[in-house]
Amino acid sequence: MSDRLIIFDTTLRDGEQSPGASMTRDEKVRIAKALERLRVDVIEAGFPIASPGDFEAVQAVAEAVRESTVCGLARAKDADIDRAAEALRPAARARIHTFIATSPIHMREKLRLEPDEVVAHAVRAVRRARRYTDDVEFSPEDAGRSEPDFLCRILEAVIAAGATTVNIPDTVGYALPDQFGALIAELMARVPNADKAVWSVHCHNDLGLAVANSLAAVLAGARQVECTINGLGERAGNAALEEVVMAVRTRQDRFPCDTGIDTRQIVPCSRLVASITGFPVQPNKAVVGANAFAHESGIHQDGVLKKRETYEIMRAEDVGWSANRIVLGKHSGRNAFRTRLRELGIEFDSEEALNEAFARFKELADKKHEIYDEDLQALVSETAVVT
Ligand code: KIV
Ligand code: ZN
Repeated sequence: MSDRLIIFDTTLRDGEQSPGASMTRDEKVRIAKALERLRVDVIEAGFPIASPGDFEAVQAVAEAVRESTVCGLARAKDADIDRAAEALRPAARARIHTFIATSPIHMREKLRLEPDEVVAHAVRAVRRARRYTDDVEFSPEDAGRSEPDFLCRILEAVIAAGATTVNIPDTVGYALPDQFGALIAELMARVPNADKAVWSVHCHNDLGLAVANSLAAVLAGARQVECTINGLGERAGNAALEEVVMAVRTRQDRFPCDTGIDTRQIVPCSRLVASITGFPVQPNKAVVGANAFAHESGIHQDGVLKKRETYEIMRAEDVGWSANRIVLGKHSGRNAFRTRLRELGIEFDSEEALNEAFARFKELADKKHEIYDEDLQALVSETAVVT
């Protein structure tokens, strides 16, 4: 089994399906270039048949990106596949991603097709996509609620028809990590030609489990994860790229594979996506939130100032922050207070003066959420020596 975990980013397709997050062609190209700098393996640029604008955006991304594979989404319909292929023509490496729903509720209520017909559509779509590219991905939509026996049947058929990646989506974010990991292991064991394709997962976050489910799938053998920057996506979003990548990188003791991502590009890419979509990143968001590497409590600050690893499992610089942050507030201790003042070139001529300033700092901190450098400078202006 490969020790490379492929990162398939769908910020520009599923991320854009976040209500209010639609992007222009030029915005998509800017994000695609940032994803390329991040060394994402596959960029899903859009759904070309969805609108003329999305067709043009996929085409523009296919022209602009040279290092990553560029992918277009297509339902299991001839017209969708032809349109995707046309949009992807300028790509250095092109992938067509075709899908059809396989859960009983989707087949019966939405598609109004019999299971045999669904298999026939899937096989026909994959064969048609293979006329345009030898890189074809197939997804059984709503796999998380599909019958494993039916999944085995359709996956065997699409691999035989030429699918090179089979992607298992938990479309409605219903799966639990142990169950989803077991499903991936079962499918990989039961599909006779499983070794002819890369196994992928695509998890939604309706129960806040998209990243946990993706990681369980990787431990079970999946070697591609579909994800988005900042976890953007339909409803509660998709698995967050930055969390998947950093979990795998940080816990190499548990994962038998790693990504090729340049992690120092994570924060710049996150900022770009937030500013283009207008979806701010919550301060306590893992890896890319403003507080992800900030320490406010005195005990933590003292620990980090003595040895960073006491309270940090990753280095802020490794994901693109300039440094970690010691935030001065009401929980801060004397060590952090003195250290920050020293950094500002401020020393006290006696321990007593320091203690007195520290007491005044605590009084102020009770009234303010965060104490800034200007507050400190004002606070100590009469007692400290500026060096
Ligand atoms: O969530 C989903 O099932 C999808 C498919 C198109 C892969 O986005
Ligand atoms: Zn999705």
